[in-house]
Amino acid sequence: MRVPMRLRAIRPPVWALSGATVVVALVSATVVVTLLSGAATTTAGATEATHSNLTERESGVGSGLRHRGRASGVKIGTAAQPAAMAENGAYQAVLSQEFDSVTSESQMKWDIVEPARGAYDWTSSEALVRFAEANGQIVRGHTLVWHDALPGWVANGTFSPEQLRDLLREHIQTVVGRYKGRVAAWDVINEPIADTGGKLRPSLWMTALGPGYIADALRWAHEADPGAKLYINDYGVEAVNAKSDALYNVVRGLRRDGVPVDGVGFQSHLALSTNLTTLDANLRRFADLGLDIAITEMDVRLPLPATPAQHVAQAGLYTRVLQACLAVARCVSYTVWGFTDRYSWVPYAYPGWGDACLFDATYQPKPAYQQLRQLLVDSPRR
Ligand code: G3I
Repeated sequence: MRVPMRLRAIRPPVWALSGATVVVALVSATVVVTLLSGAATTTAGATEATHSNLTERESGVGSGLRHRGRASGVKIGTAAQPAAMAENGAYQAVLSQEFDSVTSESQMKWDIVEPARGAYDWTSSEALVRFAEANGQIVRGHTLVWHDALPGWVANGTFSPEQLRDLLREHIQTVVGRYKGRVAAWDVINEPIADTGGKLRPSLWMTALGPGYIADALRWAHEADPGAKLYINDYGVEAVNAKSDALYNVVRGLRRDGVPVDGVGFQSHLALSTNLTTLDANLRRFADLGLDIAITEMDVRLPLPATPAQHVAQAGLYTRVLQACLAVARCVSYTVWGFTDRYSWVPYAYPGWGDACLFDATYQPKPAYQQLRQLLVDSPRR
């Protein structure tokens, strides 16, 4: 089997050393011969062309986004699906070769780590963190306080506000404490702003604990791991609008009160219709508060079946957001919310839409991948 150019210069990712593959490493200056199965077989028995079967020219994957992103100082990341990580060698090949940073797409959410009260399950979060550690990647922990992904015993419990506050503190300090020193940044609070009205979302936490839950959560996380960067993360706040104004006022108040908050995550779940005219000014005003900026969940959903012209327009939005990040010194990371359509959340949330990721379902890169890579190559060292 022809060894694609790109495999010759890099050490095989950790997964390639598993029992599932045989690695005959002729470690000379350039050649590592990896004998991978001809195709990764998913648990469903389906086979798919693996990433490593494709030549650099065919796949368009060369020295990767992570290698190119380093010059700009912006970490290029992706969210990682627990199911995908468990079943798919090709998935792990792209994940290890393309990204500086890995976000726990679901592995660290409350419903996964503590499905029953006091019964913690660290299986998938450990798998994610250990994979990242083994591949020299940083971890973005997602998320500690959210109105969604709550286990039933919390969401449907009959707790007093005092009991809920104690539960929340215990949750944050248990999860952050377990991963102390292993998670570089936490999305401590996720989606705290209501979609309309420019006020805080009336979540379980806001209703029971009042607006102070945000500062409390940040302080508890900081106590549990003073070295981790602490973020507030939201969607629909990429432009200057009532929602981003509300978020701006919240974080400005936190900074004024000396609450430990280090950054704001702009999820950036976009469609071709998204208006990004005020994106640059918006990122700058948050950076001017002394905050780090992170693009945390980038994807661009398309109506299916998408046309080549829509893929080109999609690439334009992906690069537009990266350009805005590169233009703000405090923008420290650009993370896509999953990198392959094979495991994207979009079709489930938006029936009739999809095709939102940098790679299609068979790990073929789209124009957006090529244009991001070129933009990173062209971007000046910061
Ligand atoms: O782990 C279980 C598995 O054991 C079970 O067999 C399977 C079928 O029920 O469910 C699995 O859990 C699923 C989990 O993803 C892990 O894949 C949950 O049902 C499913 O609800 C969950 O969906 C995630 C969703 O957040 C809710 O947590 C999506 O993958 C994820 O992309 C989405 O991500 C959110 C961000 O956290 C916040 N911003 C918006 C974004 C998109 O909604």
